[in-house]
Amino acid sequence: MTQEQWSQVDEYIVELLVPSDEALDSALVESTRAGLPQINVAPNQGKFLSLLASIQGAKNILEIGTLGGYSTIWLARALPAGGRLVTLERDPKHAEVARRNLARAGLSELVSVRVGPALETLPQLAAEGLPPFDFVFIDADKQSIPEYFQWALELTRVGSVIVVDNVVRKGAVLETASPDPNVQGVRRFNELLAKTPRVSATEVQTVGSKGYDGFALIRITSTPE
Ligand code: SAH
Ligand code: DHB
Ligand code: MG
Repeated sequence: MTQEQWSQVDEYIVELLVPSDEALDSALVESTRAGLPQINVAPNQGKFLSLLASIQGAKNILEIGTLGGYSTIWLARALPAGGRLVTLERDPKHAEVARRNLARAGLSELVSVRVGPALETLPQLAAEGLPPFDFVFIDADKQSIPEYFQWALELTRVGSVIVVDNVVRKGAVLETASPDPNVQGVRRFNELLAKTPRVSATEVQTVGSKGYDGFALIRITSTPE
């Protein structure tokens, strides 16, 4: 199996089931034009996230890692009237591109982009005493996934859902001695997840236009002791 085949099958799926759309297309074009890395979720993955958030009935969504706001648009479109999405981005340039893309998508009212390292903006968010988030998408730097997961546990309720992107890394997750801090971040996260009693979780490997990777799906099942 080759990357070319995965990409062709993704094109086939997207053509059939994920119709293109001005706001989403422009978000990708403008992100590329601004020089952002093309590490957004694929269109069919974006729709998958949007479906998960709808199935969850999410009214309050948290995203960690905005980039140009492509996944943000997919997630925000799952919100009911009065819903809110907070997305955290370290890079002010990425945040600026995302704000423009979200404005073009007509989502500026629903979405707030908060700029700064997530390990600084998460404690600020927690101090605000907002209602718990129903759905969290973790997709920033991979070194800090364990810490982001712990904050996500703080900021959610029983029944909330957490999705973590990029937990397979082309299979590198098996490399116990990997020098790559991203791989070590994912491995630390997986070990933490495995021993977190308050959740029910699984991980699924994926292939497609974005290569070979995977995501974790987590449901909060009980309150802290
Ligand atoms: N969710 C996006 C892709 C995010 S790429 C999509 O699918 O469309 C990862 C993003 O996380 C990048 O924009 C990067 O700048 C940001 N990031 C990296 N480290 C971060 C940190 N410590 N805090 C917040 N954002 C961070
Ligand atoms: C990278 C980050 C992502 O969130 C992703 O989906 C793919 C790649 C990266 O940092 O390389
Ligand atoms: Mg990702």
